[in-house]
Amino acid sequence: MRDVLEQAVALGKTHTHEGAVATYIPELGKVDGSQLGVSVFCRNGKRISVGDTKVRFSIQSISKIITLAVALEICGFDQVFKKVGMEPTGDPFNSLMKLENTDSSPYNPMINAGAIVVASCLASEISFDTMLDTIRALCMDPDINLDKKVYHSEMSHISRNRAIAYLLESKGYIEKNKDVENSLHFYVKMCSLSVTAESLAGLGLILANDGIHPDTGKRLLSSQAVKIVKTLMFTCGMYDGSGEFAVRVGIPSKSGVGGGILSVVDGEMGIGIFGPALDKKGNSVAGECVLEYMSHELHLHMFDPQRHTL
Ligand code: DON
Repeated sequence: MRDVLEQAVALGKTHTHEGAVATYIPELGKVDGSQLGVSVFCRNGKRISVGDTKVRFSIQSISKIITLAVALEICGFDQVFKKVGMEPTGDPFNSLMKLENTDSSPYNPMINAGAIVVASCLASEISFDTMLDTIRALCMDPDINLDKKVYHSEMSHISRNRAIAYLLESKGYIEKNKDVENSLHFYVKMCSLSVTAESLAGLGLILANDGIHPDTGKRLLSSQAVKIVKTLMFTCGMYDGSGEFAVRVGIPSKSGVGGGILSVVDGEMGIGIFGPALDKKGNSVAGECVLEYMSHELHLHMFDPQRHTL
């Protein structure tokens, strides 16, 4: 498998120039867009990393997975899905359009509006420090921390998300007794955690293994939360690129504007990618290329008839 990963990274490298690092959060604009790394953590204990897999970067929207999983554990299915839907939008991740034009709750927890609602459910239930401990365990990475520079940079360019949050409050999806600003801070703190491709592969492995740490046998997330998270990753995890990505790659995945992609080959492995040059939809250009190559060469597509032959 190492050969395939090396070939995938070599191929991906030829595409990094087609994308650009995110600049709407100025701190992210300082990152070198030519970096690329992929880590694979398998259930059988095999761990392979190629390229820039130890470089710390901003988790950004991939944190939406963790926020949702923990909210499902703490607040429960009914409470969470009373306030957020399960449908893909086909719109950009930070769009306000459907929120304003329809009577429905935010379409899903993977877009900003949905994640801010989920954050509002959680912010009053759990401290950020407890969240951090949970995240370190889920990612098998004790060194995950809040990147304060990214946090302050995002908080000083928060107008669009603040508009979303107050619109949500006006429509009753953030309750009047919940502090909107507090929910926003919680959401941005989650987005500002610094991870590596290896941390994402660790989280992917836990999700691939039904929420159980394969080395210790300890259950970290319930089966139900893991099932829901993986389903929404498949249908909504790559924003308005989710449909094409499902056809081409066929692996439940979640991207972030820090350049990360977390992918879960169910029952088999977690994959973590870092490639900060993004396409117009906010997904890592080289990361998508690496995943499409791996999916094809290793038969990882969910509906590949040769899957499970690794
Ligand atoms: O709220 C935002 O815009 C960012 N903190 C997260 C966006 C993001 O990662 C979208 N991903 N592709």
